[in-house]
Amino acid sequence: MDLRTAGAALLDWYDLNAREMPWRVGPAARRAGVRPDPYRVWLSEVMLQQTTVAAVRAKYLRFIALWPDVAALAAAPDAQVMAEWAGLGYYARARNLLKCARAVAGGRGGRFPESREELLGLPGIGPYTAAAIAAIAFERPETVVDGNVERVVARLFAVETPLPQAKAELTELAARLTPEARPGDHAQAMMDLGATVCTPTAPACGICPLTGPCRARRAGAAGDLPRRAPKAPKPVRFGYAYVARRADGALLLERRPPKGLLGGMLGWPGSAWDGDPAEAPPVAAEWAAVAGEVRHTFTHFHLRLSLRCATVPLDARPERGSFVSRADFSPAALPTVMRKVWDLAASAWP
Ligand code: ADE
Repeated sequence: MDLRTAGAALLDWYDLNAREMPWRVGPAARRAGVRPDPYRVWLSEVMLQQTTVAAVRAKYLRFIALWPDVAALAAAPDAQVMAEWAGLGYYARARNLLKCARAVAGGRGGRFPESREELLGLPGIGPYTAAAIAAIAFERPETVVDGNVERVVARLFAVETPLPQAKAELTELAARLTPEARPGDHAQAMMDLGATVCTPTAPACGICPLTGPCRARRAGAAGDLPRRAPKAPKPVRFGYAYVARRADGALLLERRPPKGLLGGMLGWPGSAWDGDPAEAPPVAAEWAAVAGEVRHTFTHFHLRLSLRCATVPLDARPERGSFVSRADFSPAALPTVMRKVWDLAASAWP
């Protein structure tokens, strides 16, 4: 395969088909000399890990409106940043986002480092994000490999090794395609191609700029790649969630410990989540069982929560959590599983 020709064809395609994104400097502006803001590239790439472009767009715009530069974000209160992150999932990313902003705004005078190696030294920046920032913000010829890129490369080179085992092989092959010129546009072209043309099912090979050299296409097998090792089924865990409403409308919420699942996020007090949890009401009350259950899937397990609701008097003394006035309560600041609990409670409230 002539990799230079393939790379050039991909960039030509990107010049015409680049998706518009609020954090992106498109190919025309890039040619006119506009440089991406490293802060915006960093913020968007951290948000985009394990989250779709569609889900990130509105969140990103809110973050940029609230905190237009790294110094502003570094000065933000933790609880506000966690509340704004709510719904994006993987809350350790939000805690690391703040740590990283404070490292850059403090020790580095607000300047992000430009090399992949130095970027890797910052909190929350792993191999993917470091390569993405170095390539997109600083035009370093780094290879950026996300799920879209893995799929494009697996097909282009007809890699039969199943994922996740194939990761190193796919990264090495992707690196062969990375050009010295326009590495940031190349990285984003690979992602856009994977997202819009070389899609997981029914790829649009007829309009693909890489259809000539694509080995899977030639074998008529593009849709079958990449192969994936079968995943172990996720276990199901159970739990109880307790929604207590005080006579003045205030709601009993609890901030979760900083480490671990949903770390640092607000939520409803609850039991352990396991195979057979014991009830664990946070305050003495006449708890009513709410019909139905809340279902939510995390990376490693499915969760089913049974819901208990109670109205408690003004002098109630909870063992856990604290009351938040109805005016200060915002369901949008809750992580998704806790927002689902609220939705069920609100629909069932007597
Ligand atoms: N997914 C993650 N980063 C992206 C980017 N810069 N462009 C398109 N899709 C992406």
